[in-house]
Amino acid sequence: GAPVSVDISKIQPGQLIRVEWRGKPVWVVSRTQKVIEELATLDSKLRDPESKEPQQPGYATNAGRSLKPDLFLAVGICTHLGCSPTYLPDSFNEQVEGVESGFFCPCHGSKFDMAGRVFQNVPAPLNLVIPPHYYVDETNILIG
Ligand code: FES
Repeated sequence: GAPVSVDISKIQPGQLIRVEWRGKPVWVVSRTQKVIEELATLDSKLRDPESKEPQQPGYATNAGRSLKPDLFLAVGICTHLGCSPTYLPDSFNEQVEGVESGFFCPCHGSKFDMAGRVFQNVPAPLNLVIPPHYYVDETNILIG
């Protein structure tokens, strides 16, 4: 499939833009400073906080799993059985106490943080997949 270009010049803090790449949903999420700080506190709750699993691009192994701290890209497909998780920008603490933002899969209850890292004790085995991508310039990303 062809690479997909995303213009991020108008993305608002906390906003999620959904695009399609190779027939899959890809999320582009603007992370606030608060979310970025929260990511650093979650390791003990996560299955694979450092993304040691082999399926990741090299730049997706930091805590934010991203090229830039304030912008996160992931394939929006649950690593359990392929449903699309729901973005909960400010009500995720109903899913994981003390964590304000994240992604919740309605199919069997898997939970992911704002870097797509899977929480413990849910069916999904792996962190969300990060698609290959790069910044063409400050405001344009090419996925693929
Ligand atoms: Fe997401 Fe099963 S498909 S929890």
